[in-house]
Amino acid sequence: MTTRRRFTLTQYLIEQRRRFPGASGDFNALLLDVALACKAIARSVAFGELSSVLGHAEPEVTTNVNVQGEEQKRLDVISNEYFTQMTEWGGHLAGMASEEMDHPYQIPEAQQRGKYLLVFDPLDGSSNIDVNVTVGSIFSILRAPQDVIDSGRDVVETDFFQPGSQQMAAGYALYGPTTMLVLSVGNGAAGFTLDPNLGQFMLTHPNLQIPADTQEFAINASNSRFWEPPVKRYVDECLAGKTGPRGKDFNMRWIASMVAEAHRILMRGGVFMYPRDTKDPSKPGRLRLLYEANPIGFIIEQAGGRASTGRQPMLGVMPTSLHQRIGLVFGSKNEVERIERYHTEPVPREIENPLFAPRSLFRD
Ligand code: AHG
Ligand code: MN
Ligand code: MN
Repeated sequence: MTTRRRFTLTQYLIEQRRRFPGASGDFNALLLDVALACKAIARSVAFGELSSVLGHAEPEVTTNVNVQGEEQKRLDVISNEYFTQMTEWGGHLAGMASEEMDHPYQIPEAQQRGKYLLVFDPLDGSSNIDVNVTVGSIFSILRAPQDVIDSGRDVVETDFFQPGSQQMAAGYALYGPTTMLVLSVGNGAAGFTLDPNLGQFMLTHPNLQIPADTQEFAINASNSRFWEPPVKRYVDECLAGKTGPRGKDFNMRWIASMVAEAHRILMRGGVFMYPRDTKDPSKPGRLRLLYEANPIGFIIEQAGGRASTGRQPMLGVMPTSLHQRIGLVFGSKNEVERIERYHTEPVPREIENPLFAPRSLFRD
């Protein structure tokens, strides 16, 4: 019997670097540090209650909220620490930003500062931790502005305000039945599966490609009364199935871990929507631009899919704040383009005025 020869993440990164003969290796070293943080988080997730990591960050404190106004779980905090600790020492970073930190994180004086910015959601889907459902980590690597690199000064929020198209790399780790890392360094998207015996991410899904068409969509339907008309129209048409304007039946999924939904879509196609809605006028969407929408958007587009706000390509949006929220639609190209088109077309009469509508599950 011959054993199957597989590439490790390190080998993959070395191969990718050959495209840039002048590259220093800093970028790859940083990505390997990020991968190490993900392995450490995977271990904490896998031990679950055995290592007393579940539950609220500080159970004795009743209002334990992060800058997002969201409850912080103990694993949110632990995962954030793994990210900072495993990446700050390498000399590759100028600064970091995270969902769990109000302000940019400064590389300590004692460490060397480098030319990249790391932005991350240390644990995505954290409402699923206590119920043993898949969660993940999402990260994005940007180049620091030149004056930051030259001066080594502290980073400020505006240093991170770069459109998603400028990401040098983006990826996520998925802590599911197997631990996986999906990565793009701007040359397609590749998936790696953690071999728990070797402690190595092995290349198992080279060159991921999202089918352009799909019959599966994901949206939190409990928000339907807050959706804008183009989203209502799209979902209604999917629900109408074979007898509706789409002429085919659709299936629906909602995991409440965006990273897990992104992974399903990368594996078999589909469309995910957390669109802008009217639920809370102070929040233009639920998900965050810099460490959720942009990195996932980058990977999806590198795999031939599309990511959008509904109104414009996600990767073209110029950020205006570190924890900015935004409407997000991504997945199979033709479906995302259809949703974008619905945002430009006049609203059909039956969507505008439900009195004219056929019966529908999600009609107000
Ligand atoms: P996080 O755990 O990092 O705060 O993100 C959770 C996000 C996302 O993963 C998921 O799709 C969405 O919140 C779920 O929102 P609902 O609770 O509205 O379903
Ligand atoms: Mn998240
Ligand atoms: Mn999170």
